[in-house]
Amino acid sequence: MNKIGIFYGSSGGNTQGVASRIAKKLGVADNDIYDVANAKSGNLTAYDTLLLGSSTWGLGDLQDDWEGFIGEVAKTDLSNKKVALFGCGDSASYCDTFCDAMGKIYRAVKDKTTVIGSVDTAGYSFDSSEAVVNGQFVGLALDEDNENQLTDDRINAWVEIIKSAI
Ligand SMILES: Cc1cc2nc3c(=O)[nH]c(=O)nc-3n(C[C@H](O)[C@H](O)[C@H](O)COP(=O)(O)O)c2cc1C
Repeated sequence: MNKIGIFYGSSGGNTQGVASRIAKKLGVADNDIYDVANAKSGNLTAYDTLLLGSSTWGLGDLQDDWEGFIGEVAKTDLSNKKVALFGCGDSASYCDTFCDAMGKIYRAVKDKTTVIGSVDTAGYSFDSSEAVVNGQFVGLALDEDNENQLTDDRINAWVEIIKSAI
């Protein structure tokens, strides 16, 4: 059985809301969804697939609670797991650092695990993002501030990618 855990950091609730929408579509139970403010390395080990989500703050920074949790991720053996990333950002006001936090988490895990769920940048409008590698987002980039009408379709398409990759 492929057990999925969702770990999110959210300052204003957007990434939290997205985490729960993704969970519903993948059939992930509420007690397998963690706010990283209260999670530890031991919580990560229980899962085959980890979905890690962060909003971006400052100018391209991780969401505050991720600043601590990234160390917990770093000390966890992820070698037999798959990791997928998602993030919320603002592609209009922060078009040079759009969803950078997702790129930071990617760099922290990419040599330790298999990252799944990259997304085409077509349909997004931004200038620069650390989350773009080889022309694709390393995970699901969402903009609840300007494009929330696109979020459902973006989640639906991504969930199908995840299902076929796990
Ligand atoms: C002070 C501030 C700084 C921000 N910096 C960035 C940024 O560098 N890049 C980005 O894509 N979004 C940035 N955002 C937008 C947030 O990431 C976005 O509103 C997100 O949906 C917040 O999600 P949360 O409620 O889960 O924390 C910033 C927002 C604020 C208020």
